[in-house]
Amino acid sequence: MGLYLHIPFCIRKCNYCDFLSFPADYDHQKAYIDALRKEIVLYSDMYHNEYYVDSIFIGGGTPSLLNIGLLRDLTKELTSGFDLAKDTEITIESNPKTLNKEKLEAYLEMGINRLSIGTQSFDNELLTRLGRAHSAKDFFDNYSLARKCGFLNINIDLMFSIPGQTMEHWKETLRTAADLAPEHLSFYSLQIEEGTPFFQMKEEGTLVETDGREDREMYHYAQTFLNEKEYLHYEISNASRAGYQCRHNLKYWSMENYLGLGLGAHSFMNGERFSNETDLKAYIKAGGIAEQPMGKNTSCIVSSPFTVWNHVNSREDDISEYLFTGLRKIEGVDLNEFHARFGESIKEVYAHNWNQMERYIREKYLVNTGNRLRFTKKGIDISNTILTEFIF
Ligand SMILES: C[S@@+](CC[C@H](N)C(=O)[O-])C[C@H]1O[C@@H](n2cnc3c(N)ncnc32)[C@H](O)[C@@H]1O
Ligand code: SF4
Repeated sequence: MGLYLHIPFCIRKCNYCDFLSFPADYDHQKAYIDALRKEIVLYSDMYHNEYYVDSIFIGGGTPSLLNIGLLRDLTKELTSGFDLAKDTEITIESNPKTLNKEKLEAYLEMGINRLSIGTQSFDNELLTRLGRAHSAKDFFDNYSLARKCGFLNINIDLMFSIPGQTMEHWKETLRTAADLAPEHLSFYSLQIEEGTPFFQMKEEGTLVETDGREDREMYHYAQTFLNEKEYLHYEISNASRAGYQCRHNLKYWSMENYLGLGLGAHSFMNGERFSNETDLKAYIKAGGIAEQPMGKNTSCIVSSPFTVWNHVNSREDDISEYLFTGLRKIEGVDLNEFHARFGESIKEVYAHNWNQMERYIREKYLVNTGNRLRFTKKGIDISNTILTEFIF
């Protein structure tokens, strides 16, 4: 299984971000990590004989803000609590400017072998508009430092459709990124999320969203350019060198088990989805009463004071989620695996609207090879519309 750990701290909020994160001093960090360690102990007792872990994703927020001593306590709790595969992929998300030699060396020493850097853009004006707390130079300095320290697997997050970003800017961003030759690149279309400063600016008319046509042009350019640079586009927003696909994130898109620990974290284990408390005070308080390890085969919603929501998937939930997540992968879903997993072919399951699926196939939005079903390039552009056909 995979483990996700949420670190909800950031230097400050970016103008577009609605992730669960906020600034925190050392004392708050410590209180949080103490509670998170309690949650690890709770689950390690339940799962350590049953599963081994081959991916850990320390995400956020900005985990690289975390005090090194606290991060070390956390990783020690993980390695003593769970059975880790020898080659476990361990990712940490970071922001430029928050890294230094001491931290990077400590990460490697703790076994963290994949570094993800939230870069977004190399244009200082755009970075300021986004509300980022770093400059392009901060990124370049941190990137080369990470290489010097010995990181062999680095991801860079980039963003397109930023208000004011032209196609030329975007091409330049991609060229600069490819010249650095990271093993992995994520490229996200900026989403204007409710509750963010960008959303308010849009309401007030002071922020003009990039139009849909330009957004798609930028996306298509990235697909073609990254392909030319020998990056394998393997998921809607992700490309990597061969063999460097993110093992952890692939679990989300293949409906494999993952346990999410920490504030607001989501899990999917054995057909059950559950999620944690999103209020920091309540989460820390839960740490105070989580003294007893959970027994085997107990329900997390009953036994974990951190969990506030759960849902046991029906067969229909499993089928739609399998397609929703699986079709994010560029190779699509394996139809033989679908049959083996659900006992019927996709055509039998969706007999009620198979005509509509065939229309999408005829019009070249979907490809059905018999063994696999996947989106075409133009299918990706309207994937959300098509995917609604798979909801029961
Ligand atoms: C949770 S952040 C973690 C990385 C780190 N905190 C940072 O921002 O540098 C992961 C990535 O999500 C992307 N992201 C966050 N909010 C977004 C939004 N509203 N639209 C598109 N991408 C977004 C950014 O590219 C960001 O690097
Ligand atoms: S640094 Fe990352 S997580 Fe924090 S506010 Fe910005 S985008 Fe969100």
